[in-house]
Amino acid sequence: MRIAIDGPAASGKGTIAKGLAKTFNLPHLDTGLLYRAVGLTVRDVPELNFEEEAIAAARSIDPSQLDPEKLGRAKVAKLASRVARIPKVREALRDYQVNFANQPGGAVLDGRDIGTTICPDAEVKIFVTASPETRARRRADQMASQGYDIGYDEMLRQIESRDEADRNNPAGAFYVADEAHLLDTSQLDIEAALRAAIAIVNQAMAGQPGSE
Ligand code: DC
Repeated sequence: MRIAIDGPAASGKGTIAKGLAKTFNLPHLDTGLLYRAVGLTVRDVPELNFEEEAIAAARSIDPSQLDPEKLGRAKVAKLASRVARIPKVREALRDYQVNFANQPGGAVLDGRDIGTTICPDAEVKIFVTASPETRARRRADQMASQGYDIGYDEMLRQIESRDEADRNNPAGAFYVADEAHLLDTSQLDIEAALRAAIAIVNQAMAGQPGSE
């Protein structure tokens, strides 16, 4: 079973993807980490060489060496969103994601273009969303618990600016796959959001050919 989870920054998609992977015993790939790893590699590269070096970094990253803690920082997110605008970076990261999605037994992937581009024939697609205010509050609390006091207002500004950059990505705007189930987590805590996602997967699987 292939499960594609997409959604904006801090929507809860990562936590939901991890929870689904555990529930259904599937391997999980957070594809944002790939873009973050590329972004971090080129953080000090001058503008003139930025694109070229980002493409080279995307072609040589080792996906087995991704460190979610190091890559989780807000500054890295901004760099990730910048390299994600370079078509050849997306192209270089594509095969790894496609192969991960299509491994025998299936997988859960989360990102921005999983249901539309990386795995358009996934058996289940979920688009996780939440209001910018909810996402900013959650991310500010999460950062504070890790010792980074960014504050709600600054976090809201960062979330809105990243939404804008992602919406206007010249390498392909992110959109909701036609068959995706929408899951708005604004009013849900993480347990309730995960329960809702599990229900969507179970329902989708019950409707698959061969499920009777
Ligand atoms: O999901 P995230 O916050 O870790 O993503 C970081 C950035 O990477 C985000 O601004 C957009 C980009 N990204 C992407 O373009 N395509 C993906 N499949 C995943 C992330």
